[in-house]
Amino acid sequence: MTTLPPRSRSPLPRFPANFLWGVSTSAHQIEGAAAEDGRGKSSWDLFSALPGKIKDGSSASVAVDHYHRYPEDVALLKELGVGGYRFSVSWSRVLPEGAGPINKAGLDFYDRLVDSVCEAGVRPVPTLFHWDTPLALEEKGGWLERDTAHRFAEYVEVVAERLGDRVGRWITLNEPAELTMLGHALGEHAPGKQLLFDALPVAHHQLLAHGLAVQVLRSRGSGSLGIANSHGPTWPASDSEEDRGAADFYDVLLNRLFADPILLGEYPEGIAEMLPGPVAEDLELISQPLDWYGMNFYQPTRVGAPNPAVSAEFAGITVPPEMPFSVHPVEGVPRTAFDWAVVPEALTELLVSFRDRYGDRLPPVVITENGCSYDGLDDQARIDYLDGHLRALHRAMDAGVDVRGYFVWSLMDNWEWAEGYRQRFGLVHIDYEGGTLDRTPKASFRWLQEALRAQR
Ligand code: BGC
Repeated sequence: MTTLPPRSRSPLPRFPANFLWGVSTSAHQIEGAAAEDGRGKSSWDLFSALPGKIKDGSSASVAVDHYHRYPEDVALLKELGVGGYRFSVSWSRVLPEGAGPINKAGLDFYDRLVDSVCEAGVRPVPTLFHWDTPLALEEKGGWLERDTAHRFAEYVEVVAERLGDRVGRWITLNEPAELTMLGHALGEHAPGKQLLFDALPVAHHQLLAHGLAVQVLRSRGSGSLGIANSHGPTWPASDSEEDRGAADFYDVLLNRLFADPILLGEYPEGIAEMLPGPVAEDLELISQPLDWYGMNFYQPTRVGAPNPAVSAEFAGITVPPEMPFSVHPVEGVPRTAFDWAVVPEALTELLVSFRDRYGDRLPPVVITENGCSYDGLDDQARIDYLDGHLRALHRAMDAGVDVRGYFVWSLMDNWEWAEGYRQRFGLVHIDYEGGTLDRTPKASFRWLQEALRAQR
């Protein structure tokens, strides 16, 4: 049993009545049932079976068994009182080979899930791709191939045909930046490629996939469309010209490479020439207007010129010496169990900087992920994190940024990619140790429940 923390601070400021409050998850991190009902394998099934890739040696083959226990999880959503639930659809559960025959049992699962989310009075917000590339496509080159974007569009059509009558909001992709950088440039995530800058086509093909998905969904009249891009302020490690240059470069990689094509219809200087295919034509598709722009925010990054003395490790990731930057710790701030810096003001800064950079081209923003890893049921530190970030978000709104929603990552503890089960991001605790996978709301769950009640 968790107890409510003492009310040590003033209530959160008031958010607009139609503000969408939600929580996020993703298929591979929660579903399990990896070999059930005809699901095809994904790039992550293969990657996590390779020795040494996952820090605790685990795989997500069971994860938190959401595939079977989703009614409990939907009941938790209802109890929490959120208005929206962001989850992702596993492409290889729906199309085991990535293309071709449809796995009816796989689609049926999402059908049941959407029904049950709607019955709970919560809006389903599916993400169509959250990193789990069908293995059959991965083996043909995956996101290095343009063809994968076209296969994605066909898959989107299949999912929209089945769920579109109940889904009013879609997210095309989750964090194409991470799949590019961690998956293809540095090899820390599936598919484990270490292509460094030769990974750039992966960014372009995902953005093309986004554009094609928007086209498919628009032609079906499928509601309100967005993407979940990961963004964060990049701060120079010092005032030196070298450090400022390195920080600008990192800003291009993390922020502008993925936001400029969508919001401005162009790549940052020098990038388009490095990309394959009819890039100018693709940019027209990529920059089709969105109804809202999703941002995942966790922490700012302090970046300096290459320096062998720093940044051997950053948030569990090794920055190779060939990179034209180094990543420095943000000092003097609290840190999460994942050793990520807790800097709520950076969220205000990020939102204001996007508004200033993109002006009218930036549609209303939704924070599609924000959260932190901490252990324990009495997770006061998570309460502090969420409270601080919600106040920071409100300050950005006061400064005129149009923000329409906020989703906590994550509803429950789950399989945190290369970390395995070691990092707990949930508002709900999962019993891994006892092996029961029982769900227990943490103090942060009760806090958010209370905060949402107060907003109503
Ligand atoms: C991803 C999630 C992940 C979270 C915490 C985001 O990069 O979209 O899948 O669990 O951050 O690392």
